Amino acid sequence: MKLTLRVNGADHEVDVPRRATLLAVLRDDLGLVATRFGCGSGQCGACYVLADGAAVASCLMTVDQAVDHDIVTVEGLSQDGKLSPVQDAFARESAMQCGYCTSGMLISATALLGHTPSPSEDEIREALAPNLCRCGVYGRAIRAVQRAAGAT
Ligand code: FES
Ligand code: FES
Repeated sequence: MKLTLRVNGADHEVDVPRRATLLAVLRDDLGLVATRFGCGSGQCGACYVLADGAAVASCLMTVDQAVDHDIVTVEGLSQDGKLSPVQDAFARESAMQCGYCTSGMLISATALLGHTPSPSEDEIREALAPNLCRCGVYGRAIRAVQRAAGAT
């Protein structure tokens, strides 16, 4: 069926099965491949995107559920070629190794700072808890969020 999705500030018309996942449509139809496929079952955080500012698992959201929501992927975090404060802080703190989990962490951190501009370390840990990282960059990711919040 034809649907219009609002992604990264622009409307995109897609013709896809109604029950297709938002993750599949982002990657396969819109070419926004920074959003990762990990577990496919809401357990790893690799596929997180912002929906109206909240971090959601795009592997669990069907494309028809995404209609009428303002979806932002990692590709939409930077503005005019300039990294967002969270992206910049992750780069400066080297808060990545293989990078597979990084998109999801950036989304979770952006959602957190959207509603809690000066989070405590516990609040950062809680926000990043759904984002599994096999490389174990959690310490650097926490420092990156603190840097982005202006706390370091
Ligand atoms: S791929 Fe969606 S939470 Fe793992
Ligand atoms: S940096 Fe490799 S999974 Fe997180």
